[in-house]
This record gives sequence, structure tokens and C-alpha cells, in this order.
Amino acid sequence: MAHPAVQEPTNMEIFRAAEILRSGGLVAFPTETVYGLGANALHEPAVARVFDVKGRPRFDPLIVHVADRTWISRLAAEWPPQAQQLADRFWPGPLTLVLPKTSLVPDLVTAGCSTVALRIPDHPVAQALLRAAELPVAAPSANPFGRISPTTAVHVRDQLGDRIDLILDGGPCRVGVESTVLHLTPAGPVVLRPGGITVEELEDLIGTVQVIDATSDESPSAGLLAPGTLPSHYAPRTPLILQSETALLPFERGGAGARRENPSVPTPRLGLLAFHTASDPARFTCIEVLSSTSDLREAAANFFAALRRLDAAGLDLIIAEVFPDVGLGRALNDRLRRAVHG
Ligand code: TXA
Ligand code: MG
Repeated sequence: MAHPAVQEPTNMEIFRAAEILRSGGLVAFPTETVYGLGANALHEPAVARVFDVKGRPRFDPLIVHVADRTWISRLAAEWPPQAQQLADRFWPGPLTLVLPKTSLVPDLVTAGCSTVALRIPDHPVAQALLRAAELPVAAPSANPFGRISPTTAVHVRDQLGDRIDLILDGGPCRVGVESTVLHLTPAGPVVLRPGGITVEELEDLIGTVQVIDATSDESPSAGLLAPGTLPSHYAPRTPLILQSETALLPFERGGAGARRENPSVPTPRLGLLAFHTASDPARFTCIEVLSSTSDLREAAANFFAALRRLDAAGLDLIIAEVFPDVGLGRALNDRLRRAVHG
């Protein structure tokens, strides 16, 4: 895969980025999941800029990132034993915990919710930045609202470059899908968004967790629990459908013969986003195979960049294979279903 050269930021750059955050500016930074667009979470004007730059509706709350657990008691009003267990196992890492908030957290960050989403990222650059800034940092993924999440600094530059103060380059993101958002409700743990920590890993540690299907209209509690988990998200500009939804497309049903009879009908340019093998490759102008060894981790790490390349290829339609609904496959299927809605 072609990735831009990795240039670890110097201490001076980290220091400058921390200064920008402290003075109310916006810094895009790498995490192990995707790149984040960070602002001082305790400074409402800076947080407001994040919403504006992303074009994000203000009813969609932001995740607050901290370097370590020393901030937690100032941000979360409760710290149940399950939170402790989960943090011991999965922090730093791609797990976000939703807990009752303290009054220190501005309402703008949580979109008026009485809860706050907290995460300790596992990326050396994110860690260095959070330590240098000595602040909690509110950071959504660094993409325009509803679009494909960035997994390299170049992705961020292409989409938001001139609208933010600094981009720290930490190379391609290791995990490649966003964190798992887990709400620890009094009625039990609820996964609001599947992500980098799998449901299986969570259940091994704390027993059964409920999983909200935010893409289903039949999930009446979803809107309540996950204010920002909209069905339409992660969308390429090119229309995308799932392979399970189609054997042959309407314009293919006539076959090559039909096109020979009417050569003025142009052949549509199809792209394929495949998990491990490209079946029927002759149908496609462009093919992205995510993991030739059927490794869901590798597929997740490649997912958004591959979707971006297909989106840039001038295709009429992208056909995406559905992943096995286990492990990281759930997070990938969730992103695919939302890309369809887009
Ligand atoms: O991996 C990630 O989580 C990345 C990196 C940058 O850390 N961030 C990220 O942020 O994906 P964003 O804003 O794209 O997604 C945050 C998700 C949204 O679905 C939002 O609704 C949910 O977290 N969320 C945030 N605060 C919440 C709260 N108080 N209650 C319920 N859901 C919340
Ligand atoms: Mg996002």
C-alpha cells in the first residue's frame, strides 16, 4: 500500500501543537484508530470551532481524550467498578466510555447530554500531545461531517487542511476504525458504536453487553442513547451498495449482448471493495482487496483508505462485500451500512 512518508513530529512540534490547543486553536493529531480534530475541551469557543470546521450538527456530542486517568475524576461524576475493569484492560486503547459528567465539562461538548464520552488513546503522538497540553481534548474524527474518516495526515490535509491550525503526522493509523463507544448505563453496558475493541473482547471481561443497531429504524432507544449515531455517515461521494443486495445489477441483466445491440449505452464503471478475494474481477474497473489472508485486523487498517481510493477513481458505483459479523467485522459492517445510507 502506498502511504505517505512517516515523519514523527519533533518535541518542538508537539510543544507548538500544545500551545495552539492552550490558546484555543485546532490541532489534528493521529490516534491508533483515526485522526482526530482536537480542541481544548474546557474552552467552549474552541469546541464551537470544531463543530463549525466539520460542519457537524451541535446535537452530536464529542469524545474527550485524556493522557491518563488523573483527569477522570474531574470529568466523570461516577466511576463504577465496571469502568475500572474496562479501563484496566483496554486503556490506553480504542474504547470510549460514556459516563455521567461533572459540571466542568461544557454542555457544548456533550450536546446537552448529562453524560460524557471519555477515551485514553494509544498512540505515542496523541499521548505526547495530551501530556504537553495538560488538557482534556475534545476530538471528533478529522473529516467533514458524514464523510470518510481519515487514517493518514494527507487525508486530513486534503479535506480540512486550510481550516485548521496544525496537522501532526503520526503515519497511518494502526487500527483504522474508530473506538468502540460503550455506555455504562444503570441497566447494563450498551455498545452505541462497534469499533476497535470487539464485542467479544468486552463480553469476555464483563459478560453480556447490549449492541445498538444505529442503522436500524427499529431501534427506538438508539436515538436516545446515542444522540449522534446517525444512520448516514462515512459516506463516499460515489454511490455504494452492498454485494449481498445484488447478484446482477439492472443495467447488467441484459448482459454484453444487450450492450452490443445498443452500443450507445456506456458501460458503467464499477468498483469493488472486497474482503479477501475479488470474485468476477472482469466486472470491475477498480478493485480493492482489504486482506488477502482474511485477517479482519488488516482489513480494518486498510478500510477507509481503500474506500477513499475507490471514491477518487471516477466510478459510477462501488459494490462492497459484507464482512463476517464477528470481531472487527461488526465495526466494518456498521461503517458499510452507513456508507450506503449516505
Ligand atoms: O476513535 C475514535 O473514537 C475517534 C478518535 C479521534 O478518537 N473519534 C471519533 O469521534 O470517532 P466522532 O466524533 O467521529 O464520534 C464520536 C461518537 C459519536 O457517535 C457520538 O455520538 C458518540 O461518540 N458520543 C460522544 N459523546 C457521547 C455521549 N455523551 N453519549 C453518547 N454518545 C456519545
Ligand atoms: Mg466521525
